[in-house]
Amino acid sequence: MWKKVYAWLDERIGLQDLYKGILDRPEPKGNWWNTLGSASLFLFVLQGVTGIFLTAYYTPSPDHAYDSITYIMNSVAFGWLIRGIHHWGATLMVVVVFIHLLRVFVTASFKYPRELTWLIGIGLLILTLGMGFTGYLLPWDQRAYWATTVGTSIAGTVPLAGPWIERILRGGETLSALTLARFFSAHIWMLPAALVALILIHLYLVIRLGISNIPRQGE
Ligand code: HEM
Repeated sequence: MWKKVYAWLDERIGLQDLYKGILDRPEPKGNWWNTLGSASLFLFVLQGVTGIFLTAYYTPSPDHAYDSITYIMNSVAFGWLIRGIHHWGATLMVVVVFIHLLRVFVTASFKYPRELTWLIGIGLLILTLGMGFTGYLLPWDQRAYWATTVGTSIAGTVPLAGPWIERILRGGETLSALTLARFFSAHIWMLPAALVALILIHLYLVIRLGISNIPRQGE
């Protein structure tokens, strides 16, 4: 029965070709340092899954945000676990993505023909930091409020465009309900959508170009 379903789908969408193109490749020569990209990908998916669960209870309004987090932590079954994974996973993802970047830098894997993979990687790092920045405000407690006040003020020191960037981020002169709504929207829609798009291009390039070998003398 499953064979028939598979054959039916394969004939229409080419499952066999997809499998051959994406998964059925010779195992690349590498070492543990080459697992950091996949670890980043795993953490991104983990953040996505736990984040989706959190949106079932989180409310992005100044009146309810803090209480909804307290409710998740104390009253929702396994809420503390899901939030804990999301909270620590965010820090871990920044660390792992950064060590992945360092590995790529140390092995000079950013050189021809992988310049684009590197540039897209820089975009991924900026977006990952953006996820951390926007997520930090969501609990709407004192720490979140003042950290974001400082963060957006720093953005305001950019030459020329600074005050304009600060206003866009805050949605006004000071932090308000509009800031929370903006950060929430960026955190669950805009930044993840951009991350998914860039990760797909990043992985396509990794598959197309293969993994670089560590440069050694005489090779
Ligand atoms: C969400 C973040 C990221 C994900 C999910 C990701 C994913 C991956 C994966 C799965 C690989 C192949 C396995 C490996 O060599 O580790 C890879 C390779 C690569 N990544 Fe990333 N990456 C991310 C961020 C970055 C960053 C920040 C940079 C650098 C600025 C970068 C640059 C590269 C390069 C140049 C390669 C090719 C390495 C080679 O051929 O040896 N990536 N990435």
